[in-house]
Amino acid sequence: MIKVSDVAYARFAAPDLDRMETFLLDFGLTRQHRDDNSLYMRGTGPDHHLHVTHLVDEPGFIGMAFNANSMTDLDKLSKVDGALAVEQIDEPGGGHRVRITDPNGFQVETIFGQETLDPLPVNELIGPDHGPGHPRVHDVQRTEKIPCPVLRLGHVVLNVLDCDTMDEYYRSHFGFLQSDIAFVPGSDDELALVFLRCNKGKEYIDQHSLLFTKAKEPGLAHIAFEVEDINALFVRHEYLQTKEYEHSWGIGRHTPAANIFDYWFDNYGNRVEHFFGGDLLNEDDPTRTRHRK
Ligand SMILES: [Fe+2]
Repeated sequence: MIKVSDVAYARFAAPDLDRMETFLLDFGLTRQHRDDNSLYMRGTGPDHHLHVTHLVDEPGFIGMAFNANSMTDLDKLSKVDGALAVEQIDEPGGGHRVRITDPNGFQVETIFGQETLDPLPVNELIGPDHGPGHPRVHDVQRTEKIPCPVLRLGHVVLNVLDCDTMDEYYRSHFGFLQSDIAFVPGSDDELALVFLRCNKGKEYIDQHSLLFTKAKEPGLAHIAFEVEDINALFVRHEYLQTKEYEHSWGIGRHTPAANIFDYWFDNYGNRVEHFFGGDLLNEDDPTRTRHRK
């Protein structure tokens, strides 16, 4: 069908925008737009926004957006069963989109032509990592515990009822490629876990922009923001501790993708991750299968 190029942003609902914004500022995002009914937060990269919150009584995850490569691709996608017509996005950042609801009920937007912004400076409070062979001689560092900006939205992870259905749907509709998979224990063909990367040909891209894990209830597992280096990840961890947010998991290193991770909960129980590093793959990489006992 088409090949999307990246994950663009995630949408949430919350009954109190101040409460959501407070967490996101502490997590390292920057306000791009705020009105009575919605909040748009950006990273330091050129994307207009990475995180959208709508004022709604019931908090929750609404869906996510992917970047398309052209209006032609949006036209093509709009012809798919269940897709809505191409429409102008009547929101900050503009652009066009096609909306579609996937087999597990998640709202998926595919967008093109959204406004881009001048990048923001990355906080350089943290010096290089001095290890053996690089002694810190007369190079005194006193790191403040403050939020440091995140760069971009790296991936979305969804709990899904049927990994095989979702895997087939996203590969055939959006051009995703399998990076790593794992089967349900005792099965040779039923997926329990599938890491999907975008197909940008020979260009090297994140090992996953999307990950499905088999679960009894569909829902958001987490969204993940990339940070500039491992030192920043540790410093931000301590800053979030001082604010007494609920910690989830980490700091650690994943096996597939091998990125460094740190998971927290926002003020409405959505899991959000800071990550650094990770495998970069292109169209030539095979699917890697992990066998679980
Ligand atoms: Fe993650």
